[in-house]
Amino acid sequence: MALRTIRMLGDPVLNKVCREVKEVTPKISTLISDMLETMYDANGVGLAAPQVGVLKRVVTIDVGDGPLIMINPQILASDGTQTAGEGCLSLPGKAGQVTRPNHVVARAYNEQMQEFEIDATELLARAICHEIDHLEGHMYTEFVEGDIYEVEDEGEEE
Ligand code: NI
Repeated sequence: MALRTIRMLGDPVLNKVCREVKEVTPKISTLISDMLETMYDANGVGLAAPQVGVLKRVVTIDVGDGPLIMINPQILASDGTQTAGEGCLSLPGKAGQVTRPNHVVARAYNEQMQEFEIDATELLARAICHEIDHLEGHMYTEFVEGDIYEVEDEGEEE
């Protein structure tokens, strides 16, 4: 495993649409391991492959329940809303208020390319939406309500 460099807001790689993963090659396995290591090293709750410069539909998330790896994730259903401060490892030390669904049902593939569904609420639902946005080339800063502000403790960054 190795740490990868996290790309910062303004890097054009963060505005590209990522490609689907067809199979988990050794290269994809290494990418996943490196993304987990990089995410934990940065105290993040989520990381998307384009944030380490790879335009593939791979995300890693850990909201405190252990690592969740999602390949080719898709939202199947969503309902409710939640509005809270949201941050991103590509814009460290900052956050902004973003409204997201409070509940999502998502489908993805795991690191063995087995399909699974996940029913997520609150922070996990937020993280899944945030990471899928990255795969479409979008940053949370596009959806912020009000100003982006400085955060003292680097709270929940994705
Ligand atoms: Ni992010």
